[in-house]
Parts: sequence; structure tokens; C-alpha cells
Amino acid sequence: MKVLVIGSGGREHALAWKIAQSEGVEQVFAAPGNPGIARLEKGRCIGITPSAFKDLEAFIAQEGIGLTVVGPEDPLAAGIVDRLSGAGHVVFGPTAAAARLEASKSFAKDFMARHEIPTAEHAVFTTAEPAILYVRKRGLPIVVKADGLAAGKGVTVARTLEDAEQAIWSIMVHRTFGEAGARVVIEDFLEGEEASILAFSDGRTVVAMPSSQDHKAAFDHDQGPNTGGMGAYSPAPVVSREMLPRIEQDILRRCVDGMAADGTPYTGVLYAGLMMTMDGPKVVEFNCRFGDPETQVVLPRMRSDLVPALLACCNGTLDMTPIEYDDGACVTVVMASGGYPGPYEKGKEISGLAEAEADPDVTVFHAGTKHGENGRLLTNGGRVLNVTARGKDLRQTIGKAYGAVKKIQFDGAHFRRDIGQKALNRP
Ligand SMILES: Nc1ncnc2c1ncn2[C@@H]1O[C@H](COP(=O)(O)OP(=O)(O)O)[C@@H](O)[C@H]1O
Ligand SMILES: [Mg+2]
Repeated sequence: MKVLVIGSGGREHALAWKIAQSEGVEQVFAAPGNPGIARLEKGRCIGITPSAFKDLEAFIAQEGIGLTVVGPEDPLAAGIVDRLSGAGHVVFGPTAAAARLEASKSFAKDFMARHEIPTAEHAVFTTAEPAILYVRKRGLPIVVKADGLAAGKGVTVARTLEDAEQAIWSIMVHRTFGEAGARVVIEDFLEGEEASILAFSDGRTVVAMPSSQDHKAAFDHDQGPNTGGMGAYSPAPVVSREMLPRIEQDILRRCVDGMAADGTPYTGVLYAGLMMTMDGPKVVEFNCRFGDPETQVVLPRMRSDLVPALLACCNGTLDMTPIEYDDGACVTVVMASGGYPGPYEKGKEISGLAEAEADPDVTVFHAGTKHGENGRLLTNGGRVLNVTARGKDLRQTIGKAYGAVKKIQFDGAHFRRDIGQKALNRP
């Protein structure tokens, strides 16, 4: 079978890497992919962007692609699954109607309230003044969110009224995030530690993957501005063994049942961003796709072939598809360009990848790289590499990941030195 992965980041490299291990797969195409995917024995990158639905459809038909896997949220929200499956192709991911769980936070909050899924109390506004009055009445801290997709920048956790009002103003009046700010969601602040649970869904059956936790802040000890994610680890011990059935029952199960009952069955990966509060797990948000960088620590732990699981989600046979994981741990450290998440330079030469990957437990997923001349590899984004290690437990695996990071160099590289520490420093 030929498989097409849509997207170009570390998540898509991890997906292509895992899919390529499937015996039944002869080739993994990526649109547009990245040099890490191109270097896979079965990998091939094609110059089509994720938004070019027509070109993708033509390529899938012409190449006889048996399975298309959509990485990022934008094409999902724009209806790529509706379009490709409408043309008779097998495609992994939710329809646009189901992807509203991520693409509209007000939709998601109303949905959760209706289906009694535990989450923070909220209100939705279409103009600024009533939103500001609500904040004043509700008290601090409070969380202000642009309704639509804002590339992870639409949320402010406000600790002062000024911060809250400024966030509302910038979302609704200045339209910093464009149409994503036509509505604003204001929700109560949840206290606790965050974790991610990704789950497969075929519209009826939902199966959780192992827990993980990412590190959004740019610098050690969660300091500095938010980024796309500076690292991740799995499992996340904050999600205890006792907690899992509750997450499966009260969150994942209710979500998939609710979407089916509402006439928009959810297929693909359901990503629940959770706050582990004193009152139990609560949903911070749903995402409608594999997380980045969570995927880079969950897929390496999957012992089974990924392709049958993806296909089962597409054809409704997830209940008959066993999926197994190893008991160990996985850690990924993001190496970023100097200055990221602010302005940064591109085109710096990267060295030491082969040395880092000499350890069979280490895989370096590419996030922002490009080919240079004479086989050289250059930086081409803010987040450049996901240096990923597997091991028997978190402590050992963190050591392995940083051992590999030490062998890789590029001008201005920066990375957090405390990925996974939260898991070790637990009471
Ligand atoms: N109700 C909340 N209470 C506390 N923190 C929150 C809350 N909602 C969001 N956050 C914080 O803001 C971050 C981003 O919010 P999220 O809803 O995940 O939006 P997005 O990922 O689309 O930017 C979360 O990871 C969390 O750290
Ligand atoms: Mg989030």
C-alpha cells in the first residue's frame, strides 16, 4: 500500500517514520514533508502544500494512494476529509463538522456543557463590552480565548483585569487573530498540572493512547513566552492508573458518543488537553489531530503496526483492532533556533545527527530543516529538531535524550534543560 502524510513538521516525520515500519507499506509520500521524511528508505516528499486540495486529490488518484493521513488542523477545519472521502479515498481525520471541536472553542465548550463533559465554566461573547463586564463580575484569574484557530496564540491566562481587558480588546476589536476573534470564550481558571491524552476513534469506539505531557514555555521552569512546544515525555505520571478509566468514561466516551448523537461522528485522533485538578481531570481543550510534539513520544512507544489502527478508524473496525504499547518511556527535546519564539535566523548548518542517532534508541525527528548544498542539512524554522529517545524509565530516557542533544550542533541552538523533570520531582 502507498500512504500519503499531509504536513511538514516533527509530528509528520514521526507519523511517516512509524508508517514506514509497516510491512504492508511500500512507500510513504509526504506533502510537502521535510528532509527527515525524505531520508526514510520508503519516504518521498512531493511539492504540494496541505491547502491545495485539488492537487492532493489528483495526486492520490494518480498514485493509487491507499491511505491519507492528515497531520495539521487547518486542512481538517477546511474540510479536506469531506473532500477526499467524498471522492472515494480513504483518509484519516475528522470531517470539518467534527473538527469544529478544535476549530471553534465556543462550539467545543457548548458541546461539553451539553454532554456533561467536565471542563471549566464558561461564557461566549460576540462584542467586547459585555465580555469585559462578565470578567469584572466573575473575578480573577480568568482565561480569555479567541474562538477560532489562532496557531496556539489566542489564549490569555489573565491575572489582572487589565490583562483580561487587553486580551478581549485585542481579540475582538483589533482582530489580532482575524475572524478567529469574531467570538471570545471566557472561562474559569483551572488549577492543576496539564497532560495530554490522544485517542483513536472510528466514530463509535474510542481507544486512548498512553498519556504524555508537553512543555509549552520557551525556557526552563516554565518561564518565558509560549511556543509550539519545547519537548514532551510519555507516560505522564500525573495521569495515574486510577484516573485513566475516568478520563476514558467521562471525557473520551462522552465526547465520541455526543458527536455521534449530534449527527457529526468523530473519526481520527481525538486529543484531549486536560487539567488534572483537585476535582479530577477536566478538559482544557480538544484538538482534532495528533499533537505536536506529543506524537513524537507516543508513537515510538507503540509496539503494534500503526497502519491497521489508522485504517480501522477509517472503516469502523477499531473495536476489533488490538493496539499495544511498550511499558517504557519516551522523551523528546526540541532544539530550536536562537531567538525562537521571537525572530530567528534560518540557514544554519546542522551537524552531529548521525552521531546522535548511532544509539538505536535515539531518533531525531525533523521539524524545521531543509537540504543545503552537498548533502548538508540546514535550519529552516523556529523549532528545528525533535531529539527523541526511548528507554526503560523516564529518568534513564531523559539522560539518553540529552546525551544525543549534546552531539548535535548548529549556530544559536537553544533547548530546555528540564524536559521531563516535572515527572521525576513528584511528591
Ligand atoms: N481554563 C483554564 N485554566 C487554566 N489554564 C488554562 C485554561 N485554559 C487554557 N489554559 C492554559 O492556556 C493554554 C492554551 O489554551 P488552550 O485552550 O489549550 O488553547 P490553544 O492550545 O488553542 O492555544 C493551555 O495549555 C493552558 O496552559
Ligand atoms: Mg492547547
